[in-house]
Amino acid sequence: MDHPLQIVVVDDEKILLTRLKKSLEAEGYGVATFSDPFSALESIKAKPPHILITDVKMKGLDGVELMNRTKILSDITEVIVITGYSSLDAAVETTKKGAFYYLAKPFKLDALKLIVVKAAEKVTVAMENESLRKKIHDRRRYKNIVGASPPMVDIFDTIAKISRVDCNVILHGESGTGKELIAKALHEESPRSKGPFVPFNCASFTEELMSNELFGHEKGAFTGADTIKPGLLEMADKVTLFLDEVADMPLLMQVKLLRVLQEHNYLRVGGVAPVNIDIRVIAATNKNIKQLTETGDFRSDLFYSLNVVFIEIPPLRERKEDIPLLVSHFIEKYNLSFNKRIAEANQEFLRLLLSYSFPGNVRELENIVERAVALAETDKLTVRELPPDLTMFSITSLSGDGILSLKDYENNYIRAVYNHSNKNQQKTAELLGISRTTLWRKLKELDLIK
Ligand SMILES: Nc1ncnc2c1ncn2[C@@H]1O[C@H](COP(=O)(O)OP(=O)(O)OP(=O)(O)O)[C@@H](O)[C@H]1O
Ligand SMILES: [Mg+2]
Repeated sequence: MDHPLQIVVVDDEKILLTRLKKSLEAEGYGVATFSDPFSALESIKAKPPHILITDVKMKGLDGVELMNRTKILSDITEVIVITGYSSLDAAVETTKKGAFYYLAKPFKLDALKLIVVKAAEKVTVAMENESLRKKIHDRRRYKNIVGASPPMVDIFDTIAKISRVDCNVILHGESGTGKELIAKALHEESPRSKGPFVPFNCASFTEELMSNELFGHEKGAFTGADTIKPGLLEMADKVTLFLDEVADMPLLMQVKLLRVLQEHNYLRVGGVAPVNIDIRVIAATNKNIKQLTETGDFRSDLFYSLNVVFIEIPPLRERKEDIPLLVSHFIEKYNLSFNKRIAEANQEFLRLLLSYSFPGNVRELENIVERAVALAETDKLTVRELPPDLTMFSITSLSGDGILSLKDYENNYIRAVYNHSNKNQQKTAELLGISRTTLWRKLKELDLIK
């Protein structure tokens, strides 16, 4: 263990303190002892220990109270209570109140040491959970994947859970939702991360070319094959093979791949000696692959072999609470690339993005922020840096500041009402609350009438 667990011992018997300190330090713990509970509390406030061993009967502040205050300060600390008072009822009471163990005086040092070992195990597990929880929830990111919406937090949980399990995974989500990003995180968290992440796009090849790419070929396998060409599968040995757009894999290739996954070996094109491999497949698709198995367009046996864990990444429009976080994340990212110091996006900018549906998902949001950071002249992103089609799209949701002059806004409004009234001038004037002459002048200015 890098850091020894810290133990605080509180008891008014100085001799006992000295004995405990000596023997617990010999076991590798860091030990601080106090004969006065108030000094102990001060020290606990400054730095809560992992384990607190305390007497019950003490002047001014009893052990149970000290335990309660410690638990408020730190929820991982385990408390062992010792006392000369060996009534069973009191023991039950203190353990009910949260003591890890109750020990009656006199006790054997070995008995205490054993209890300390058990408490230390519990603390260690609690610390691990705590740090995992922090990694997942508090930072609202997992490596470079950002998100705080419930589905993203679930995805972070799943990644953490399967990081040490060597299982095949299918990632399903619309284009730009982060499938490849998540696949890379899964690889980097896995025991295979010492090797490369090997991506392969299943949609861009014919069956024949794909076989050649994945399986390689022997010398002389076909005309022009004048050397041995190792396949991508060999490169993916002991690492992670990322099969992008897996649903588009030709059916014949699916049969071959399934065989590789089952047999852990394959033949190069034109080969006779099997090549042994150990691969993990992370597959991605934006198609409904389950449905494709029902229509026979994707082999269900391959689907089951790949689908050990299925991760669904919802489109950005269904988790809009991630937008502000993603915007900050991309501002930081592009500040670095463009050597800028943008602090944030203003409210109007965010409001506009929140009203947009992002057909291109996070990739589209990233492009929008990248462009805005490149264009920005102040330290804030404003709607002026948004693409014109996006600002036009939600012109009605804007209060007008920052994007259009009042004049432009008025002109757009007049135009819209005029069209809405089927170019009826009387009706338009009434709706706008202006005279027909004023309207006529304005329509003329706008070239809407001859
Ligand atoms: N949650 C996220 N946090 C940070 N960046 C993200 C997130 N999701 C996606 N991105 C970024 O958005 C871009 C698109 O992501 P990615 O390439 O992983 O999407 P994809 O689902 O594989 O898309 P396609 O189906 O089009 O291949 C990448 O630059 C990626 O880093
Ligand atoms: Mg992709």
